[in-house]
Amino acid sequence: MQNLKDRKVFITGAASGIGRATAIAMGKSGCCLFLTDIDGEGLRNTVDAISRDGGKVYLAQAFDVGDYQAMVEFAQRINEGYGALDILINVAGVALFSQIEDMKHNNWEKVIRTNLWGVIHALECFVPEMIRAGKGGHIVSISSTAGIIGLPWHVVYAATKHALVGMSEVLRYDLKKHKIDVSVVCPGAVNTGLVKTVEIHANKEATDKARRLFLKRAITPERAAELIIGTIRNRKFFVITSFDIKFLFFCKKYCFFVYHLIMLLLTRTMDKTLKRDIAR
Ligand SMILES: NC(=O)c1ccc[n+]([C@@H]2O[C@H](COP(=O)([O-])OP(=O)(O)OC[C@H]3O[C@@H](n4cnc5c(N)ncnc54)[C@H](O)[C@@H]3O)[C@@H](O)[C@H]2O)c1
Repeated sequence: MQNLKDRKVFITGAASGIGRATAIAMGKSGCCLFLTDIDGEGLRNTVDAISRDGGKVYLAQAFDVGDYQAMVEFAQRINEGYGALDILINVAGVALFSQIEDMKHNNWEKVIRTNLWGVIHALECFVPEMIRAGKGGHIVSISSTAGIIGLPWHVVYAATKHALVGMSEVLRYDLKKHKIDVSVVCPGAVNTGLVKTVEIHANKEATDKARRLFLKRAITPERAAELIIGTIRNRKFFVITSFDIKFLFFCKKYCFFVYHLIMLLLTRTMDKTLKRDIAR
């Protein structure tokens, strides 16, 4: 079991939801934190909350994880000023639900830039330094249910979240020789800011109803943070946070016919619930 005290930890998406709850919990465990988010005010609130609890934030800076140069500069300040990270946690993400014919090119770009390039930038800027330091470590990426299941209306989100599962699996084996553990966490519904900010290309009434249904099954960000920290402590590779998704994934692997029927039904239900906003 990994002791977290004095570990140097970088967390993206720390201003809200899962990233904020993880940063606060890791601050309480005695970690030395480096935090970022595109939302400067939210980030300051997280830093204040950690400091009030006596936690240590070494550096916090607002930037877009999709901006490579910004990541390079922040990583240089950390690597040169404090040495290699012990733990990297990729949390920042955005979501978009749409039928493919209602998506503009910039919809694809925005989600891929944040959810995929953001993670690639962090891996590129921190992992070689962790390898050179030779003291092992841990990388965690937050994927999603959409990273393991072809959820309807999630085409671009699923593309990015499946990519995180694939990259994590490769790195799990590639980095073993460097004693760097890799984990990928696939949350089901979590009650966070994402529920409000998710861009849904459907009419407003249907969207509000879908949000209410989602929240009924959601866990708290604090519970998600507990599971993420448990993943690190117990050096697990793959974690699904809710029972319904574990069941669906089990069906996909072992009873594909049942999975196929469930997916047909789910698609029909979502098509009916989320009526397309044709005016868009
Ligand atoms: N909430 C859920 O139900 C759920 C389910 C599965 C997976 N996830 C994943 O969990 C992660 C955290 O999401 P959350 O639910 O806590 O949502 P959230 O909206 O509360 O937090 C996401 C954070 O990422 C930040 N962010 C967005 N774009 C950014 C960018 N370009 N650069 C830097 N920061 C950026 C936001 O400002 C926000 O603070 C995401 O990757 C999301 O895809 C969430």
